[in-house]
This record gives sequence, C-alpha cells and structure tokens, in this order.
Amino acid sequence: MKQKLAGIEQAAAAAAKNVSSEADLQQERSRFLGRKGELTAIMKGMGQLTAEERPVVGALANEVKVRLEALFSDRQEELRLEGLERQLLTEQLDVTLPGRRFRKGYKHPIVKITEEVTEIFSALGFGVAEGPEVEKDFYNFEALNIPKDHPARDMQDTFYISDEIVLRTHTSPVQIRTMLEQAPPVRVIAPGTVYRRDSDLTHSPMFHQIEGFLVDHKVTFGDLKGILTTFIDECFGKGTEVRFRPSFFPFTEPSAEVDIACVICGGSGCRVCKQSGWLEILGSGMIDPEVFKAVGYDPDVYSGFAFGMGLERIAMLKYGVNDLRLFFENDLRFLRQF
Ligand code: PHE
Repeated sequence: MKQKLAGIEQAAAAAAKNVSSEADLQQERSRFLGRKGELTAIMKGMGQLTAEERPVVGALANEVKVRLEALFSDRQEELRLEGLERQLLTEQLDVTLPGRRFRKGYKHPIVKITEEVTEIFSALGFGVAEGPEVEKDFYNFEALNIPKDHPARDMQDTFYISDEIVLRTHTSPVQIRTMLEQAPPVRVIAPGTVYRRDSDLTHSPMFHQIEGFLVDHKVTFGDLKGILTTFIDECFGKGTEVRFRPSFFPFTEPSAEVDIACVICGGSGCRVCKQSGWLEILGSGMIDPEVFKAVGYDPDVYSGFAFGMGLERIAMLKYGVNDLRLFFENDLRFLRQF
C-alpha cells in the first residue's frame, strides 16, 4: 500500500510537470485528487484494511494528499505566470498610435444665424429682449392693432391655448412688452421661436424670427432704410441689391417688404426666386400710431420703425440650404457642416 501511494505521488508529480496549460493541469488534478481520482479511490478502500493498518495508511495517504494539493497549486501558479508572460510578449501595445478623437459639437445653423444677426444689430446699438412663446392674445394681436376679426387671427394660422392665450405667431409681441416697460428712446432686437398652423415643404409649424424696432424723436422711413440696408450689407455682403416694396401690416404704416437680389442667380431669374430675380427677406414699416397708443407712447412726440424676419429663410439663403426640413431633423451629417 505504501508503495502504491508512492507510485501515485510520483505519477502525479510527473503529470503536473508535463502539462503546459492550466486546463490540462486541472484535468490531471482530478485524475488523482478528484472524486473519482486514484488517491481518492485508495482512501475510499481503507475500510478493507485491518485495524492496525488503517491509521498508518490513513495518515500516509493524507500526507500524500496534502503534498499533491500543494504541488498542483504551485504548478497552477507557475502556469498562470507563464501564460501572462507569453501574453505580455506577444500582445504588443503601440503607444504611438493616434488616440481616438472626441467628436466636437457644432452650433445649430439657427443658433448661428441668430448670433450673427444679433451681432450686426448690437454693433448698431440695439439691445436684446425676449418674450414668452405662450403669449396673451393682447400682446400677440390686440395691442398690435389686430382686432378680433382680423384674418391674421384665423384658426388656420394660430394655435390657441384658450380664448385669451396663444402660441405667439410672431416676435412682434416683444415690441409691446418692451415698450410697456421702457420709455423711449428704445432700440431692441428680439430673437425667438414662433408658431403657426402651417406645415408643408416650405412651412414648419414652429420656426424662428428676429424682431427689431427703434423708437425716438423724429425717426423717419429713411432711418428704417438706412439700418436695414446696413444690415443686409453686413449679412449678405456689401453692395447686395435691396428693394423696398410697399406692403401691409396692421401694426406698421406705411409698411414695406424688403427683397434682396437673388443670391443664387444674382437677379437674372431662377427656380429659387421663381424667375423674379428677387428674394423677400423681411417685413417692416413705421410703427402705427395705434400701437403707440396701446403702450402709452405719445404718437405726436415719438415715431419709430419695426421689422421682422424669418431666421430659417435668412439661414437658407446665406448658407445655401435648399430644404427647410433640414433645420428640424437634427441629422448630424447636416449639422456638422456648420
Ligand atoms: N410680424 C410680422 C410677421 O410675422 C413681421 C413684421 C414685424 C412686419 C415688424 C413689420 C414690422 O410677418
């Protein structure tokens, strides 16, 4: 029995030494020490020994078991380190490879055009004002000389929250809010989001405008033309041809729409300008005395002008964007170009 144990110990030691992977070692380990292993079999068979033999062989077998367990775990550690060493030698890390870049964020074109337009008017002395997008009927319509039965209030155009509350359909209510708070002289622009019940290829139910107005003593239509021509020079390039075309707004009198020579064809006529050679870019006019009355300005003492433009349209013309929907889809391939 002693010899048999010594034989098992020798065989196990040799087997452990011969394997070259941790998995193989595991297999050898269970061949000797596992539940059906050779050493285990001997220990299980001890019942057949005599009473004198049993403690002697039992102690011996236990010693062998302890030694073998140590042997296997030493060998296991050895193999683990060898494996690690091999991995370190073969898997090389090229620290000179360039790292992965973080993607930069870009300004949305509407943010960008808002900043550009704001900067131009800041340089002309205009401050910036803001107003709520959920607006009272009074500011959006009534005070702007748009009475209850005016076609601009048609259910088709306006999102009503209730009888007296609307989603503002333009940035003009900021004129009213500002004038109610400030005495003249005022010189303010107001960028913001506006809403209309309109949705097709060239209309979005939500879009952006920038409003501007100036009130002081003796402000004339000449001042309006001067400021807007300067703006257009700055925004679209010096010498851009401008045309003031008579128009109508309930809150300005007289009113004019402003066109620039088509940025695509230069005025000879193309699809973008519908063969007219001109592109409308904003609405404007001298502030109507009725508006002054609504905010408590004396129309005999003060005069002023106002204008409003759609920022999507300005951005389309300036950046050469041919589809309004691109502004609202947030496609990164589009946004990254700005
Ligand atoms: N509020 C007008 C619109 O949305 C634009 C405008 C503003 C016209 C100021 C004249 C003066 O169409």
